[in-house]
Amino acid sequence: MKSVTVKVPATTANLGAGFDTLALALDLYDYVTIELNTKTHIEIENEGENSLPLDEKNIVYIAAKAVFDMAKVEMDGLKIKLVNNIPLARGLGSSASARVGGAIGANCLLGNRFSNDEIMSLTAGLEGHPDNVTPALFGGFTISYIDKGELKYFKISPSVEFKIVVIIPQFEVSTSKAREILPSKISREEAVFNIGRACLLVSSILTGQLEYISVGMQDMLHQPYRKKLVPGMDDVFKAAMKNGARGVALSGAGPSIVAFATEGFEEIGKSMQQAFLKYNIKSRFLVTEINSKGIEIID
Ligand code: HSE
Repeated sequence: MKSVTVKVPATTANLGAGFDTLALALDLYDYVTIELNTKTHIEIENEGENSLPLDEKNIVYIAAKAVFDMAKVEMDGLKIKLVNNIPLARGLGSSASARVGGAIGANCLLGNRFSNDEIMSLTAGLEGHPDNVTPALFGGFTISYIDKGELKYFKISPSVEFKIVVIIPQFEVSTSKAREILPSKISREEAVFNIGRACLLVSSILTGQLEYISVGMQDMLHQPYRKKLVPGMDDVFKAAMKNGARGVALSGAGPSIVAFATEGFEEIGKSMQQAFLKYNIKSRFLVTEINSKGIEIID
């Protein structure tokens, strides 16, 4: 039986000012192996091996099935093996990567009937917001937007090298809860504040003028509200900046935090760890590169 393995990167969304719009693919991966089977059978290694559903409620299966439905092809079941390295419910896009992996795997089994843009629209619909799905598929730094009801994206390859120090606290934050606490309306001042910052962030990534990143990552739309879900967030931000980070932001809906840096990565990571410890929160950190390729079919 034909099987396919898809390598899907983790992502960090929002990047401060770019709520639901800006995101970046990271050098950290989940692997989804999928094949047609007489019934559905799911195996999971690493993250979520004791907590994620092993039946048709699994979101990898749901995304794969949605592709079969879109193609109007019936199937009895899928054999799915997941090797998950992206921590769950930590703001690193694990659900988007899972959906993208399932959908791309199913599309391969169907002889690539759909374009990656069609898979992007399908998986963003399942996810409820597009920002993580886009870089998981296409890599790099992406701007996702909806034009006349159609999801589109613009991909930027940063013109200078920098790394991302990701601090991952031990506790989880549910994205739905982190979205519920956000106000549904904002003032004109807040909108203007974020528009300016988001433009500045994109310009600094495009031109390599990294001195604008820290201001470009300031935000009034989500971070101030999500602070209460991430004890110590302000102190972790301060520690990263004091130790040489060029900018720092809550990763997606949190609780992970990303610091952009060109040097001193270990010191920045350790300082953020110490800052969390003051709040009795254990954490680990990773120093990652930007993934520029997005998904890869490796088998
Ligand atoms: N843009 C989304 C949010 C990302 O902030 O809610 C969730 O991972």
